[in-house]
Amino acid sequence: MMFPHLFSPGRIGTMEVRNRIIASPMERNYCTAEGRVTQRYVDFLEARSRGGVGLMYTEATYVDPRGRGRQLQMGIYSDELIPDLARLVEAVHRHGARIGPELHYGGRVVDPGVSGLQSWAPSVVPYVGAGSVPPHAMELDEIADIVEKYGAGARRAREAGFDFIGIHGAHGYLLSQFLSPFTNKRQDEYGGDLQGRLRFPLEVIAAVRRAIGPDVPILYRMSGDERIEGGLTNDDMCEVAPYLQDAGVDLIDVSAGIYESNQWITQPMEMPQGVLVPIARKIRPHVGIPMSVSGRITDPSVAESILASGVTDFVTLGRAMHADPEFPNKAREGRLDEICTCIGCNQGCSDRHAVGKPILCLVNTATGQERKYAIRRSPESKRVLVVGAGPAGLECARIAALRGHQVTIFDRNSEPGGQILLNRVVPGREEMAGHIPWLSTAVGRAGARIELGVEVAEDLVRRERPDVVVLATGATLGIPQIPGILDSPVVDGYDVLRRPIAAKGRALVIGGGIRGVGIARVLAAKGMEIVLAEAGPELVGDIGMRSRAIQAGALAALPKASVHLRTTVEALGADEAWLWEATGKQWRVGDIGLVIPVRPLLPVMDLAALTDRLEGVSVHLVGDCLQPRNAMSAIHEAAALAHRL
Ligand SMILES: Cc1cc2nc3c(=O)[nH]c(=O)nc-3n(C[C@H](O)[C@H](O)[C@H](O)COP(=O)(O)O)c2cc1C
Ligand code: SF4
Repeated sequence: MMFPHLFSPGRIGTMEVRNRIIASPMERNYCTAEGRVTQRYVDFLEARSRGGVGLMYTEATYVDPRGRGRQLQMGIYSDELIPDLARLVEAVHRHGARIGPELHYGGRVVDPGVSGLQSWAPSVVPYVGAGSVPPHAMELDEIADIVEKYGAGARRAREAGFDFIGIHGAHGYLLSQFLSPFTNKRQDEYGGDLQGRLRFPLEVIAAVRRAIGPDVPILYRMSGDERIEGGLTNDDMCEVAPYLQDAGVDLIDVSAGIYESNQWITQPMEMPQGVLVPIARKIRPHVGIPMSVSGRITDPSVAESILASGVTDFVTLGRAMHADPEFPNKAREGRLDEICTCIGCNQGCSDRHAVGKPILCLVNTATGQERKYAIRRSPESKRVLVVGAGPAGLECARIAALRGHQVTIFDRNSEPGGQILLNRVVPGREEMAGHIPWLSTAVGRAGARIELGVEVAEDLVRRERPDVVVLATGATLGIPQIPGILDSPVVDGYDVLRRPIAAKGRALVIGGGIRGVGIARVLAAKGMEIVLAEAGPELVGDIGMRSRAIQAGALAALPKASVHLRTTVEALGADEAWLWEATGKQWRVGDIGLVIPVRPLLPVMDLAALTDRLEGVSVHLVGDCLQPRNAMSAIHEAAALAHRL
């Protein structure tokens, strides 16, 4: 077997688990406003159990409505919720995985605008993202009340048939708020030194144990390092871990970060695979119970090597299981090129979660839409011609072919992928291009034909005699209307990324989205001085939220780069530019060797006239050629069309 450690059975307390893969808890916004499980939720987790995972958590599941952070989060605060939870458990058990809830109470990070109630916390340490009403510092009777609510949640979980109880002790929610000196400023027995700050989490573990008896395993998620000044360090958590073991925890699951350091909770593609392993390695010698670790584990060989090295006994996969429910089965059977790998973009999951929307996935359009987007054979097999092998064209071709259509996809380039491939040369963004090999292989596996290096014109379309034409021709960079631009040393921004332009001196980059920042970083690495002007108030607003700070920080750290927000370029000359800031400040920049505008993006609509000219053929536009947007929107639009054809 290829991954002997990953697929050997494991044990947590009294519980046998069929392999070492844990699907991590992820809030999904799939429940009702009452926290009730929906069919969508059942379908999602049932697909992951069918896909071969050993064990799965639900998601942060609130034990009391005051502690819920999202309108559509899962709850376990009332006996009325038990029948639906039991239905969920039954669906998961049908395919052999173990399942448990992750008992949760949000505390200071809960926005009263969502819960409808003032948040409760150990101390009045407001969180900026939680609205203007500060949290209330809990009284002793309120602490006792919440401890009991954890116990009641655990009892309900057992009545619903869950196999284990997860406790959310990580990420800056109530338990870690009590534990952390960053958020616990109390002077009473629940604050002060470590013993005091541990009191609440240990009481919660005891209440859960009382409710479930000695045999049901407890899994405890902790932030092994809060990565924040004044918060809990990796060393602190080495001290904490034995207390959790002594309190009756059966597995410690290591994560990291709190809301103020949230790129450590859901690490973006800029962070490496297995980024939290060193944190878990440090904790390992301090406990004898099984451990697991999460954090950008998206490749089965990385998972295998973590287990083989003995750092942990299990691996916790969040987004990898979100992106491909069949990850375990495919890895076990050696079908590695079939694994639809999470690229760490956070656009479909984390970013949508943050604004209360049901989470989706950029690379897997069926994630969270398992029933809606199940492949249904088309009643007739149509001849479908797709023009453009970027992400939208490929996704449309893949699904249309799976549905039984005869699909041919043309692209003028010698390689599929379109613009997204340019990410290969942008530091930290390389994985963005990583979805294309999977997608193009999947297109071939589905039975579609890919023709590369072909310029499509009307006569070719007519020769192919299609029933359906899908134009997915993408967008291209235009030249902004800045006076003097044609006399300036203006170059195509995409060319800068496609070809190694060896330039010296100063480059003026116009636009601070990821293209502009990426180009600036690439040119800076070649020794150029960068002046970047962005008309809006922020940099890289077009990529996942967690990535923004990293990309903007990398730009700011360049020794020879100056960034000007709310700034437009008024005029250009042969080697100079006049910049205008929203404050009214105007100034001249000289010695410019390159001008690189990264806006406007113009839809490529050369073939759009076909819409009226081909009788009896339905012509559709998808993705950026309809309106330039991000890859997430383009791919999902393409999937929606392909399921309708
Ligand atoms: C949309 C989203 C929701 C999450 N919700 C939870 C949660 O409810 N409880 C939790 O402990 N962690 C939650 N996490 C963190 C993940 O469980 C996991 O630790 C993190 O994504 C890093 O692991 P990964 O790289 O395998 O995804 C969430 C992550 C995402 C992307
Ligand atoms: S949306 Fe992006 S980060 Fe989230 S699971 Fe999908 S590929 Fe991974």
